Amino acid sequence: MPKKQNIQPIDKTELVWPNKRKEVERVELPFQTIETINLPRGTRQEELFGKGGQEGWKNRLIWGDNLLIMGSLLKEYAGKVNLIYIDPPFATGDDFSFTVNIGDPASAKASDGQASVEITKEPSVLEVKAYRDTWGKGMQSYLQMMYDRLVLMKELLADNGSIYVHLDCHVEQYVKVMMDEIFGRDNFVNEIIWAYTGPRKSGNYFPRKHDNILLYSKTDKCKFNPVYISHKSGLHNIGQVFSSEEEREEAVRELEAKGKQVEDWWIDIWATERYRSELVGYETQKPVALLERIIQSSSSEGDLVADFFAGSGTTGAAAEKLGRRWIMSDLGRFAIHTARKRLLDMSAKPFVVQNLGKYERHRWVQLNGRYKNYLKFILELYHAEPIEGFTNLHGKKDKAFVRIGAVDAPVTLSEIREALSECKENKIKSLAVLGWEWEMGLHDLVKEEAERYGVKLSTFQIPREVMELNVSDPKVKEDIHFYELAYLEVGPKTEGKRVAITLKDFIIPNPELLPEEVKDKVKNWSDFIDYWAVDWMFNQHEEQTEEDDTFHNMNQRYRTRKEPKLELAMDYEYKKSGKYNILVKVIDIFGNDTTKLVEVRVK
Ligand SMILES: C[S@@+](CC[C@H](N)C(=O)[O-])C[C@H]1O[C@@H](n2cnc3c(N)ncnc32)[C@H](O)[C@@H]1O
Repeated sequence: MPKKQNIQPIDKTELVWPNKRKEVERVELPFQTIETINLPRGTRQEELFGKGGQEGWKNRLIWGDNLLIMGSLLKEYAGKVNLIYIDPPFATGDDFSFTVNIGDPASAKASDGQASVEITKEPSVLEVKAYRDTWGKGMQSYLQMMYDRLVLMKELLADNGSIYVHLDCHVEQYVKVMMDEIFGRDNFVNEIIWAYTGPRKSGNYFPRKHDNILLYSKTDKCKFNPVYISHKSGLHNIGQVFSSEEEREEAVRELEAKGKQVEDWWIDIWATERYRSELVGYETQKPVALLERIIQSSSSEGDLVADFFAGSGTTGAAAEKLGRRWIMSDLGRFAIHTARKRLLDMSAKPFVVQNLGKYERHRWVQLNGRYKNYLKFILELYHAEPIEGFTNLHGKKDKAFVRIGAVDAPVTLSEIREALSECKENKIKSLAVLGWEWEMGLHDLVKEEAERYGVKLSTFQIPREVMELNVSDPKVKEDIHFYELAYLEVGPKTEGKRVAITLKDFIIPNPELLPEEVKDKVKNWSDFIDYWAVDWMFNQHEEQTEEDDTFHNMNQRYRTRKEPKLELAMDYEYKKSGKYNILVKVIDIFGNDTTKLVEVRVK
């Protein structure tokens, strides 16, 4: 008799990869609001979000790594998000490339006859590097990145919530097994095939023309609204059987009127390029119709929809159209800017732009044991040498001495004064100050101040992307640029209670760092400006406290593909006479902010 084998029943299948980690760190950091896009005048909250009591709600666009962002959202939103859609990066590296318009139609026409010039910004080395952090160790690092995030998304989901994960055929199978583990196999609802067609060079394989979207619910009680489409859209009624002749005719008529329930393969939503009027120059943009279908199917009006890999903000745009609240996040500076413009362009409901700012940086130095090494690290990236024996100066690059601003506070005027005074005592003629954030209005004041000390002062922005860097990678160190802060000149003009602001000049101090393709195309200083906005009462809004430096975006002008021309003046009528602080914020074609504070008195 054969020996009885001890066979264990298989009750669990799990995807493993080298160094798989199951504990997910939940970091809770406070959010910093960088900008608030205000309520349209006279609009009541109730009209915006119904009477359901979402009093004071503002949609949220958050810049930063979604792992930290989700960890920080948990306290307020665990179990409260009704629907999550994510479209994480595939393996192509397209995520950071985007097209920008340069110049007004008029100025561009003179040179090459085109309406305005559109260039494609290739991903910078840094962006590619950040991207490689996901793919650096191949599938292993991708899977861990996804695992950590999906665990947090599950915690954020409401009990009747759903999650859609948009993937391609290279990773779909892996993520499916991983989601079975995290969400439970029983909570797998659908694998949706979104198939489209379009031109493609032929190779020795079938052109890949579909994406896979995995749908899971959090529990067995998920919300689902069947969506019907017209029979004419190419989907047929195969499989709809009627029991008798009489019923048949009536039922067919009814069915025809109702349409056909959408199945798990979608061929009636085209590839994004075909929705020309929607395109915002973001390589991986998805069609609004796709998101509308998802949102309609798995949420109701007023529900909260989130997308933590938001890109150009398609989810927010669709949620706006369908009366849902939304939270979106993205790591890319340009993604956030693109989404903001897109939402403004559709007159979106109030929203805030946030980040984890100084808190994230504080954590970054702590984590990397860089408190001690922070100055050394930044000096190294700036190609400067550390120096000893000074109180306010940290390094030297060629003839200039270098001061580095604190990681978790803006550079202040008084701090620069101290550095200038130390320069004067030591007969130092040139000072470079590197900072993450700057006290408002500091820029104009410090230049004059420096002249009085007889010192040539330059101020440089420490790029946020520094936090993604591994200092041991010498290639990356070569390619990082600290841009000198741009200079903005504005002209205020007051007539009674009406004030007009006109942009007068905008100087990017390091023209040698501009990409060649941009240098050739720029004809005018204003060609560098993509967007500008005005807070007519900076730090004087009712709800603002003294230490709150939030920019209230009250009016804005920007270029779009449809309207590439930029107006350079805006005006505003004050209700009461008095003294007002006006903050003007410019975002240039590289996605960098420059602000200018002016004071006006209206009678
Ligand atoms: C495929 S794109 C999303 C495109 C988007 N669905 C749309 O319609 O425009 C993926 C996005 O994820 C962002 N991303 C990648 N890693 C991230 C992270 N750790 N945190 C936040 N965003 C991230 C990228 O910057 C990129 O914009």
